[in-house]
Amino acid sequence: MMEIEYKKLETSDYDFVSRLVEQNLGDVITHSFNGYFNNVLFFNRAMETGNSYVIFYNNAPCGFIWYSLKGIRLHINTIIIDKEHQSIGIGGKIFKELEDKAKESKIPYLQLGVQGVNKRARDFYKKHGFKDIGYMNEFDTYYMEKRIL
Ligand SMILES: CC(C)(COP(=O)(O)OP(=O)(O)OC[C@H]1O[C@@H](n2cnc3c(N)ncnc32)[C@H](O)[C@@H]1OP(=O)(O)O)[C@@H](O)C(=O)NCCC(=O)NCCS
Repeated sequence: MMEIEYKKLETSDYDFVSRLVEQNLGDVITHSFNGYFNNVLFFNRAMETGNSYVIFYNNAPCGFIWYSLKGIRLHINTIIIDKEHQSIGIGGKIFKELEDKAKESKIPYLQLGVQGVNKRARDFYKKHGFKDIGYMNEFDTYYMEKRIL
């Protein structure tokens, strides 16, 4: 059975998270956000708002998740699994656990934003039952949601 652990984000995780973002979302950011993205601002917001964790697989850090509760919605700000750990089911397991957590708290919707150029992530979300609810042209961003209750 796949064992995944979560460790609350700490200041000392800045280099790890910045590298994850750069290596796994660098192209998406260049395409969709141009000069609007800043690693320090991103990390500070992840530290200050919502729930942010480093994800561990077999005791090794392999990813990052940041989500926030917004009323009746659980908003997934960012999820990143590093390249060498992708496609083995970690993302799917995290989504299942998030969904269970939201259900327990009687939260009826999961929601997120994803860039159109990020086809793999969009396919992943569609496969997990998310539907488009809007699109913001300026940042090539689709808003997607899944009703779970
Ligand atoms: C999107 C992401 C979180 C999925 O996590 P994951 O642990 O790889 O997902 P799983 O192994 O549970 O599921 C794999 C599915 O995701 C997609 N996928 C993940 N990695 C892929 C790859 N290397 N090539 C193609 N599809 C891939 C496919 O839909 C795949 O479906 P399959 O199971 O039929 O192969 C992960 O790929 C990732 O971090 N990507 C880079 C960062 C990113 O884009 N984050 C989202 C920002 S909005």
